Amino acid sequence: MEHKKLVTAALEARENAYTPYARFQVGAALLGKSGKIYPGCNVECASYSPTNCAERTAFFRAVSEGERSFTAIAIVGGPEGKPIESLCPPCGVCRQVMMEFCDPDTFQILLADSPDHWQVHTLRELLPLGFGPANVLERKEGTSHENV
Ligand code: THU
Repeated sequence: MEHKKLVTAALEARENAYTPYARFQVGAALLGKSGKIYPGCNVECASYSPTNCAERTAFFRAVSEGERSFTAIAIVGGPEGKPIESLCPPCGVCRQVMMEFCDPDTFQILLADSPDHWQVHTLRELLPLGFGPANVLERKEGTSHENV
């Protein structure tokens, strides 16, 4: 039920996507360990490169509100003005941001194409051998970003 709620929040967030260039709209909903849901949408720019993906919008929103620990994210996406027909996996940059704040083995990434249908992946599945805070901080076991 928690998953369905998260997918529904991602679908709602997608309605705010600002996509005059790619015309591809993405919505995300990030679940904090506090239980709070942080929605995000993609926001494009005329000069293209400042464009922010929906997933990163959700993460930066959450972190800017003081939350740094997360359990799951739901992602939905597809061409503007059309029903969603396929899953929208997160881009590599967004996977890297997930690596910064999430446990690769427990963080769940829900890829949905409707309020009733989604796949669940761990971050480790989508970013094997990822480079993260533990590599830089030279801690091996028990590294917790919460303590950084
Ligand atoms: N986009 C996202 O919001 N998330 C992703 O993970 C993939 C791509 C956005 C960026 C751009 O506005 C549009 O989708 C097409 O790339």
